[in-house]
Amino acid sequence: MDSDQMHPLAMSGKDPSMLRGDPIPKERYFSKEFMDLEWEHLWKKIWHIAGREQQLEEPGDFIVHDFMRESVIIAKQNDGSLKGFYNSCGHRAARLVWDNSSLDSFFCPYHGWKWGLDGVLEDCPDRDDYPQGDPVGKLTLKEVRVDTWAGLVWYTMDAEAPELEEYLEPTVELYKNHQFEKTVRVNWWRTALDGNWKFWSDNFNESYHTRTVHPQVPPIIDQDHFTSRYEMFPMGHNRIIQMGRPSLRDRLPDGDSHPFDDLLRTWDIDPDSYPDFETKALQGWLDLKKAKKSLWKEKGYLHYENLNDEELTESPFQVIFPNIAIAPGADSFLVWRWEPHPTDPEKCFFDQWTMAYPVEGMEEFVNRTAINTLELSEAELDLREYDDGRGISEYSDQVVAQDMQLIAGQTLGWRSQGYPEPYMAAQETRVRRFHEVLNDYINGEPPGRK
Ligand code: FES
Ligand SMILES: [Fe+2]
Repeated sequence: MDSDQMHPLAMSGKDPSMLRGDPIPKERYFSKEFMDLEWEHLWKKIWHIAGREQQLEEPGDFIVHDFMRESVIIAKQNDGSLKGFYNSCGHRAARLVWDNSSLDSFFCPYHGWKWGLDGVLEDCPDRDDYPQGDPVGKLTLKEVRVDTWAGLVWYTMDAEAPELEEYLEPTVELYKNHQFEKTVRVNWWRTALDGNWKFWSDNFNESYHTRTVHPQVPPIIDQDHFTSRYEMFPMGHNRIIQMGRPSLRDRLPDGDSHPFDDLLRTWDIDPDSYPDFETKALQGWLDLKKAKKSLWKEKGYLHYENLNDEELTESPFQVIFPNIAIAPGADSFLVWRWEPHPTDPEKCFFDQWTMAYPVEGMEEFVNRTAINTLELSEAELDLREYDDGRGISEYSDQVVAQDMQLIAGQTLGWRSQGYPEPYMAAQETRVRRFHEVLNDYINGEPPGRK
């Protein structure tokens, strides 16, 4: 695909000469000092995802998002708006709530101060015992800024951060044809892992590893770097658009059942009508677009209504700097989020949220790169310890479970005296870009600030 389809704000994500070429010192993967710099200059500045809007339906519903040693509450107000607060009592700092729930007010377990949903102190014992003045109606919990996009609830601790839409630029515009708010979270999975959080930023910023680590993917999503489009945006976000057809370099042995055949059949196309594999991959892919455009309504794929040719079949994958990835496909919206451990630079947490669109008559969902079906209904949080893979055995069919197997080895490798610096291919340019934007934050010069 040629570059004239690139977004006007995008730099080519295949061209390392667009970048400064900063060194990527390996200490950033295990140094406590670098972890402290990240807290100060990165995590306090960015927009975080707290959860999904569906978790905040009624006034009083709230999400607690713990991030390193910080914790925030995002609460639905009586007027339907959202407000966010630090989860620390204004009396003497006790943590107010520990988990997502629904309450009329926040009652501090220490001395019984009662904070309203709007963060204003509603009541406290012995109100007349304050020589400096009655705190009721006067003191408020300290706020964080809250906004929403894609059915997701976001917040930032930084009063100076750009507005969410500007921070995400041009993400909101890129996916305006999708209806993310209508999706159902069919899988809500969080795993604690041994390894620095940037493992995931690096891993998700290249597809060079896919053939080795995820051999099941190329037959269904073309992994060839020369047929894919790579974009790097000014705010630090990177994306790749891969074609939703088999890679011609990853032909399965003749006679093997092919997952692309099943996809064609779903859309009433006979996979045996093509003379050879190449024609099926290339012409079948075009026929698939046509079939989806003419049959979406009658087959109940109402969320296809505004999707264009590219969006109907291709596989976009975007890293939202620094710790979120999204895959906004035609049939699903996957969100991954990875977060540092509060104190140990060699531990992290990893979340996968699989969101699927409801299709009439469909009760199960299976992601195109996975095997196991998932019930098409809202899932509960499933917390896991990785434990050398034993803790996530039910998820072993998921692509990211294959990535998880690599963290332990790379974590040791980063500490080895034998490893000096990465030596990267052009198709790993987005990895380099990630580190340069990280350096900008650490140096107090994040993009998009005056
Ligand atoms: S710390 Fe909350 S009431 Fe005292
Ligand atoms: Fe991977």
